[in-house]
Amino acid sequence: MILILLGPPGVGKGTQAVRLADELEGAHVSTGDLLRAARRDGTELGKRAQAYMDAGELVPDQLILDLVKEHLSGIAPGRDVVFDGFPRTTAQAVGLRGVLNQVGRDLDLVVLFEAPDETLVKRLSGRRTCPNCGAVYNTYFSPPAEEGICDRCGAELVQRPDDERDTVRRRLEVYREQTAPLVSFYEKDDAPLERIHADRGVEDVYAEFRDVVGVTP
Ligand code: AP5
Repeated sequence: MILILLGPPGVGKGTQAVRLADELEGAHVSTGDLLRAARRDGTELGKRAQAYMDAGELVPDQLILDLVKEHLSGIAPGRDVVFDGFPRTTAQAVGLRGVLNQVGRDLDLVVLFEAPDETLVKRLSGRRTCPNCGAVYNTYFSPPAEEGICDRCGAELVQRPDDERDTVRRRLEVYREQTAPLVSFYEKDDAPLERIHADRGVEDVYAEFRDVVGVTP
């Protein structure tokens, strides 16, 4: 199964994608995570992406498509793939279609997660991540037992630089301008697209997500 998770920053794509990929034993492909890893590793791509990410702008399409192609080449053919935060522009969607054609696979489902801006801003401003093990917390909704410390590994939690208020505002604008048009792109393309009301707790959202994807117990 090839699945795309669409939706604004902070709507919970990453949270839901990780759970589903774990349950399906599939691959979770988050371009945001791949870019952050490239930055940590100090690669040329990471250096080129940094200024765009910190400003809340999208990284250029060709860099993203090259990154995704390279990453997909390491995933076993036929394995389920859950795309999170990719594609984000029409050019990326067209590029993905080409890549899937080349490997003889089809897009099965696009899932659009939706929530009001005030929820998104609260989730992003409250997000804290563990730089050591990658665990994600939220100061409002899912805080760690001890403030600022990872429950899993004891490392000090950090805030993503692009979760600062002004950058969040820009990310939301960029989503509306460049990514939201993908909804009509996929509707016209006749790809099955399902909408999920994501302004609910993680468990409720996941229950509907599983249902929509058709995961059997
Ligand atoms: P990326 O890392 O993809 O960020 P994003 O899409 O802005 O998504 P987020 O990770 O902020 O939100 P999410 O929807 O995954 O929510 P999450 O589950 O984490 O991209 C970062 C940057 O990289 C971009 O701005 C761009 O510069 C660049 N980039 C990446 N991909 C690109 C591409 N394809 N093209 C070009 N540039 C690209 O949850 C957020 C918080 O809410 C967490 O604290 C979580 O615990 C909490 N939460 C989640 N669900 C719930 C719930 N139901 N109830 C309560 N709290 C919840």
